[in-house]
Amino acid sequence: MKILAIETSCDDTSVAVVEDGKHVVYMKTVSQHNAHKLFGGIVPEIASRKHLDVIYDLTREVLQSLDTNIENSLKQVGAIAVTFTPGLTGSLLVGLNFAKGICLANNIALVGVHHLKAHVAANYIDNKGIKPPFLCLLVSGGHTCIVKAENYIKFRVIGKTRDDAVGEVFDKITRISDIPDCLNIDMMAKDIHEENKEIKFTIPKLENFDFSFSGMKTQAINYIKSKKKAGEVAFNLRHTVFKYLTEKLLEAAKKNNCNKVAISGGVASNLYLREMILKECRKNKIDFYAPEPKYCTDNAAMIGVQGYFEFINGNISQLDLNAYDSKSEIAKMF
Ligand code: KG4
Ligand code: ZN
Repeated sequence: MKILAIETSCDDTSVAVVEDGKHVVYMKTVSQHNAHKLFGGIVPEIASRKHLDVIYDLTREVLQSLDTNIENSLKQVGAIAVTFTPGLTGSLLVGLNFAKGICLANNIALVGVHHLKAHVAANYIDNKGIKPPFLCLLVSGGHTCIVKAENYIKFRVIGKTRDDAVGEVFDKITRISDIPDCLNIDMMAKDIHEENKEIKFTIPKLENFDFSFSGMKTQAINYIKSKKKAGEVAFNLRHTVFKYLTEKLLEAAKKNNCNKVAISGGVASNLYLREMILKECRKNKIDFYAPEPKYCTDNAAMIGVQGYFEFINGNISQLDLNAYDSKSEIAKMF
């Protein structure tokens, strides 16, 4: 079964066709990075308008991967999956209403998808043998948590950040560095090859599987302000944060008798993090899964995968489905 999937929750417009919840037929993503760069953060109204600018052409292009005649393509689509929560309300509304329009005009089922469930589901792409139950470390720009995928549609949060998300911390540090055109923490740290012992971060001690990153963020900002080399601060911060994430994830796996762990979310595309977790998993005889980096950051393929599992479990949405931002109760039902 083919699903047309649409993702517009933040600043990437992404459209894909996914088959049977595991095979990506075609995907295209347009980033708005340059439009927001000047402002030092995402401007919601610009984000919505940029989604509107590209969503029609993007969807046409993706549908034409099935058949050059769009009507014939749409006949092959069994459902349209679209992110409805969490995210920026205006951004979500663009994708959601566009999906509704196609559904209404072509009598196709609508499937609203929770963005975070979809991040976890990215692990099923190209089916590497992973099946629930498993634990997943979800690390993105907006979220940092450990969730248990009980089955394909039911998830339980085991621990989460009490303040900042890891991606948010890294983005802040990248922004305040004076390295030109620096896009991420890896670029900041790229010329550094060993730890500077004078740059230390305090790891918060929380009893359960919750995290806290705001203290380390403040320490990193202070180190940069006190004229420590930004690259060295980035190198040590990345190492400390990844070690903290890895230790908690492995601890959670042991406590929950789980011998399968996965990662997902934009930060999970980081190769250092992937290597660190893989090494610890091998030591502890735990199977480790990770989506290809392009399916870790926001993308429509993962929406198509989760949409498939929602659809086959009867979770079809009504055409009055609304969009819900991160603070809403519906976004928290994960
Ligand atoms: O999942 P995502 O695309 O969007 C959200 O749902 O938040 O994650 C975006 C986050 C950003 O904070 C970005 O800096 C981070 O993922 N990110 C990375 C890397 N690529 C993206 N962080 C560390 N290493 C990377 N290679
Ligand atoms: Zn995301």
